Amino acid sequence: MAAATLGQVWARKLLPVPWLLCGPRRYASSNFKAADLQLQMTQEPQKKPGPSEPLVFGKTFTDHMLMVEWTGNHGWGQPRIQPFQNLTLHPACSALHYSLQVFEGMKAFKGRDQQVRLFRPWLNMDRLLRSAQRLCLPSFDKAELLECIRRLIQVDKDWVPEAAGTSLYVRPVLIGNQPSLGVGVVTRALLFVILCPVGSYFPGDSMTPVSLLADPTYVRAWAGGVGNCKLGGNYGPTVLVQQEAQKNGCEQVLWLYGPDQQLTEVGTMNIFIYWTHEDGVLELVTPPLDSIILPGVVRQSLLDLAQSWGEFRVVERKITMKEMLRALEERRVREVFGSGTACQVCPVHGILYEGKKFHIPTMENGPELIHRFRKELKAIQYGAKAHEWVLQV
Ligand SMILES: Cc1ncc(COP(=O)(O)O)c(C=O)c1O
Repeated sequence: MAAATLGQVWARKLLPVPWLLCGPRRYASSNFKAADLQLQMTQEPQKKPGPSEPLVFGKTFTDHMLMVEWTGNHGWGQPRIQPFQNLTLHPACSALHYSLQVFEGMKAFKGRDQQVRLFRPWLNMDRLLRSAQRLCLPSFDKAELLECIRRLIQVDKDWVPEAAGTSLYVRPVLIGNQPSLGVGVVTRALLFVILCPVGSYFPGDSMTPVSLLADPTYVRAWAGGVGNCKLGGNYGPTVLVQQEAQKNGCEQVLWLYGPDQQLTEVGTMNIFIYWTHEDGVLELVTPPLDSIILPGVVRQSLLDLAQSWGEFRVVERKITMKEMLRALEERRVREVFGSGTACQVCPVHGILYEGKKFHIPTMENGPELIHRFRKELKAIQYGAKAHEWVLQV
């Protein structure tokens, strides 16, 4: 379908529909569909932040949200885009008591051409469904949810900031909404998506490196556990450890695991090391995906990019603290960094381990690879380079 025609179809569908009058509860399906979206526009649009106003992550929300309800008896209700509003929950709601909650985080970027693009959102949909299945939350059609999200962003398109490095953070959430205290498979759930305009993680493009507290007494995830899923329950317990890191003058936590103290993740980022391996080969290494590593979208993208360049070895392999310290001592480490939707790529310049601070020469080395990754991702995300990884909104 030609772009103009498609635009008209959307425009027609975006006309306000009094969904409340349509009786959303009469609609029931094992999968909700974007074609059935109901739209209720806000009567009280909020003031959008000005281009020079600082945007603190997750504090400003757009005018609308996506909401879909599910019950065991009737399946999914009709999806709707509605004014951003509070939820009304039963005090026994299972998400509140037993963390029956999963979420996602992805970004939409507005290019110079005013076009808004989502970055590899299909991977986020895959991960959300996988996380939901782990908690026996209801299944959904990933393509339909993504289309609903795209429509939501279209409605709030003017909220997508334009300044360099800014974006719209998209937060899909699926919660168990069982109004009873028994621990079990839920018969009620809510899926909703909220949007936040967010500022540049590194304003002015000058990257600030972080230092990490590596304390093996704290464990983020474990074999057979749920560290590979994006469950709210994985994050609450990290707050104390993050606070501990800050008390020790570090910005983030380096999560170690097991008796051999494997390096697993950095705060809420995947970890990468660019070094000369013990065998003398220059490589980019990150831990392999198992139950303790969250399969990051940016992680996958860095692996894909580096592999496509074919200039050094790219490998998914366990990395232990012992190997890391030896490599630092032998001056084989070039760059260490975290990867994630929030920052894209974040340099690491130090590790506090067993009371000793180890310097990592990431910044002294350019950081060449980090700059290259950031440049490449930026070109794709903001549309300077056409790429199959983006979904046009
Ligand atoms: C624990 C953890 N690891 C890694 C990541 C990076 O994932 P992504 O690249 O999909 O943002 C995140 C962020 O969501 C995370 O919470």
